[in-house]
Order: sequence, then C-alpha cells, then structure tokens
Amino acid sequence: MNFTINGQSVEVEADIRSSLLDLLRNSLGFTGTKKGCDQGACGACTVLVDGERINSCLALAVQYQGRNITTVEGLGSDGALHPLQQAFVEHDGFQCGYCTPGQLCSAIGMAREIERNIPSVVTADLSADSVAINERELRERMSGNLCRCGAYNGIIEAISETLVKTPAASQERARA
Ligand code: FES
Ligand code: FES
Repeated sequence: MNFTINGQSVEVEADIRSSLLDLLRNSLGFTGTKKGCDQGACGACTVLVDGERINSCLALAVQYQGRNITTVEGLGSDGALHPLQQAFVEHDGFQCGYCTPGQLCSAIGMAREIERNIPSVVTADLSADSVAINERELRERMSGNLCRCGAYNGIIEAISETLVKTPAASQERARA
C-alpha cells in the first residue's frame, strides 16, 4: 500500500484487513495517533486525510491509498510546535494527553470546515455568508472528541485563540 504521510511518501506491506489506525500505529510506528474505543465513539484516532478529519479506526487503510494523511507527528515542523499545540500547553488543554492528538487534528480539520462555511446542527443562520463562531459552535463541532480528564475548557480556549482569532494558522502544515 502507498500513502503520503506527513509529507513523506510511504510504501508498506500490511494485512489487507488493517484499519488505517492499526496501519499507522502497528506497521508504520506513528504511535502519536491513539486508539481509544476502536469503534468510532471517542475521536482519539482522528487524523487528517487531504485536510479532512476522519476517525482512522473506522477507515480501511487500503481505501486510502494515494492520499495525503497527516497525523499529530506531522503538525509541528523543525522542532517547533504547531500554534495549536503551543496553545494547548498555554491554556492547560490536556491532562493525561491521551485524547490530545485527536483533539489537535480534529480542531484543524474543523477550522477548515468553518472556512468552507459548512454549518453544524447548532448554526442559527444557515443563509449567512459565513458561520458565526461562538463557544457553542466550537463545542458542538468538537463533540466527537471525548476527553475523560475533562480538559474541555482549556481545549476550547486554545482553539478559540489559535484557529478562530488567527484562522490562517489552521491552513498550513496539514499538508493536504
Ligand atoms: S479509537 Fe477511533 S473513535 Fe475511538
Ligand atoms: S487529556 Fe486525558 S483524555 Fe483528554
């Protein structure tokens, strides 16, 4: 199977039945992406595929051949944290950190959805030129990513500061 992962072309032989999550973790050693529930309920396994967020535990790896996949290892560059990672640190957005890779990838994917004016179920005005972003919108859009430690307030603060106030930060490094 062939993929581009974090900007690098990768070829790997693996069981044709592998999920993308298992392929990333077990065959390729990208253990930053976490396995929480392994059934699409927690968001810990979220990665970006061509810039869009997916639950990699529900994805059959073979179906994603030739695609650009970004894991948490690919967010920062040259030893520097991605601005959202830095904001998580500054806002105490993680405790055990197990959900953090998925939260980061999901938030970056979410920001792109907002930039494309995709509404959520709590968007009040569907005819508006751009989605009005408030905390309710962010919490709804991030509701697929669970954090058992309850670091949600810090996570929302970090996302608000990084992706909403400076949306350009959401566009780089996803390597779509
Ligand atoms: S491990 Fe994929 S959603 Fe929980
Ligand atoms: S920081 Fe522990 S589960 Fe989120």
